[in-house]
Amino acid sequence: MKKIIIAAVSLNNIIGKDETLPWKNSEELTYFKTTTLNNAVLMGRVTYESLKKPLHDRLNLVISNSAKENKPSENLYYFLSIIDAIKFAKKRDYNYLFIAGGSEIYSQMINEVDELLISRMSFEIEGNKHFPKISNSIWEQKEVTEFNSFSVERYLKRF
Ligand SMILES: NC(=O)c1ccc[n+]([C@@H]2O[C@H](COP(=O)([O-])OP(=O)(O)OC[C@H]3O[C@@H](n4cnc5c(N)ncnc54)[C@H](OP(=O)(O)O)[C@@H]3O)[C@@H](O)[C@H]2O)c1
Repeated sequence: MKKIIIAAVSLNNIIGKDETLPWKNSEELTYFKTTTLNNAVLMGRVTYESLKKPLHDRLNLVISNSAKENKPSENLYYFLSIIDAIKFAKKRDYNYLFIAGGSEIYSQMINEVDELLISRMSFEIEGNKHFPKISNSIWEQKEVTEFNSFSVERYLKRF
């Protein structure tokens, strides 16, 4: 199973302000949806609660330090650790696990995944949730795909 970080990041490395996204961009949301559809998506409890409901047609794996009720009918499962969530997705034979934030989760996973898909927004913005540093010695930018309002930078590990 391939683990991929997917994140939308401003030019000054902001991904959020408090519990929300500090911008609205339907094109990027559509890109997120089509990329992650029918795969497993892992996220922190704060990010999940900002969505209000599970992402449809995806396995939703939410990380929290306090136990919460799973809702198998909605494909929603909580885990006390990231490792347990990854094991769960592997057992279910998912080919791709998308790590979808937020800041705490990205920081713990930045060098533990196989690939980064960064939607680079075209602006700087105020916020207090950052994307972690992408180390040049670990990651190599392989391609950039241009969309109308953002571009997707794809990084693979150098080794
Ligand atoms: N631009 C983007 O692509 C993007 C994507 C996603 C989110 N965001 C933004 O990011 C922000 C949220 O990020 P955040 O850093 O505040 O929160 P977060 O990473 O979404 O969630 C943090 C929570 O996850 C749980 N957690 C994290 N690591 C854990 C671990 N190792 N073991 C157990 N539980 C763990 C804890 O939940 P408990 O408190 O329940 O213990 C913690 O409070 C929002 O502004 C959101 O809009 C942006």
